Amino acid sequence: MQKLKDKVAFITGAAGGIGLATAKLFLSEGARVIMADSDADKLEDDAAAMEEIKEHGGSFNIVSTDITSQEQVEKTISYIQKKFARIDIAVLNAGVAGANMPLEEYPVDLFDEVMAVNMRGVWLSMRSVIPLMKKQQAGSIILTSSIQGLSALAGTTAYTTSKHALVGMMKGAALELAEFGVRVNTVHPGYVETPMMDAIHSSVMPDAPENFQKALSASVPMKRYAKPEEIARLMLFLASEDSSYSTGSCFLADGGILAALPTS
Ligand SMILES: NC(=O)c1ccc[n+]([C@@H]2O[C@H](COP(=O)([O-])OP(=O)(O)OC[C@H]3O[C@@H](n4cnc5c(N)ncnc54)[C@H](O)[C@@H]3O)[C@@H](O)[C@H]2O)c1
Repeated sequence: MQKLKDKVAFITGAAGGIGLATAKLFLSEGARVIMADSDADKLEDDAAAMEEIKEHGGSFNIVSTDITSQEQVEKTISYIQKKFARIDIAVLNAGVAGANMPLEEYPVDLFDEVMAVNMRGVWLSMRSVIPLMKKQQAGSIILTSSIQGLSALAGTTAYTTSKHALVGMMKGAALELAEFGVRVNTVHPGYVETPMMDAIHSSVMPDAPENFQKALSASVPMKRYAKPEEIARLMLFLASEDSSYSTGSCFLADGGILAALPTS
């Protein structure tokens, strides 16, 4: 049985690694998927792969949306409202990494940019889907945070701050929405094989990005990165009735990273 048959699922950052894997899995589970991303060209490229999966009975639409723009977010939500008259699932997943540098050297503009996407953009998106979900008396909202939403890595304070903020945002929204049957949770991936991590490898170790990935992999108790599909399966759990009593919670998929104390 398909777990999301006819459910309307809005996914941001849907042209990226985790977002696309989630869109594909949801489609294969029968959902009507709305893929939103600021990278319109990549969304177009992904459409062919989505067409192949569509045979399972779901549907998909791509919508170019920059989540830092209130106008664009509201336009996309009103498009979904007109087309489907409901939103059952919102995976608010779009994000940017920012830079790796000491706090006192971090450019203020870049800090603002990271917060505009990772924090304010997620808040704007959540704010826009809530009225419809409240009216339906049902919904699941999933925010993609990070292990850096629960712990810090030196040199990435903007990203860490933004991902911690999502935990507070999630908990506040979960309390406001629980009585309306709307659940809100965060997902905290560790290192995942996506374009975002590829860019980080190249920026930290431009001459040998693969060595940086090897070093990071070695630091993970499971000794490897996650595949985007492994995060997508956690998204599916939270989107579906399998998680019907879960709200206000943080869900990790990190290969054991946050369980470990340093050993050397
Ligand atoms: N890859 C990892 O190891 C990892 C680990 C923990 C958390 N995350 C988080 O997972 C989420 C997805 O990351 P990913 O690894 O798939 O990265 P990715 O770079 O492959 O995908 C991110 C997507 O977000 C889109 N995006 C960026 N700014 C946007 C905006 N203003 N409006 C709309 N879309 C925008 C990008 O175009 C891109 O398609 C992010 O929030 C990221 O912080 C990733």
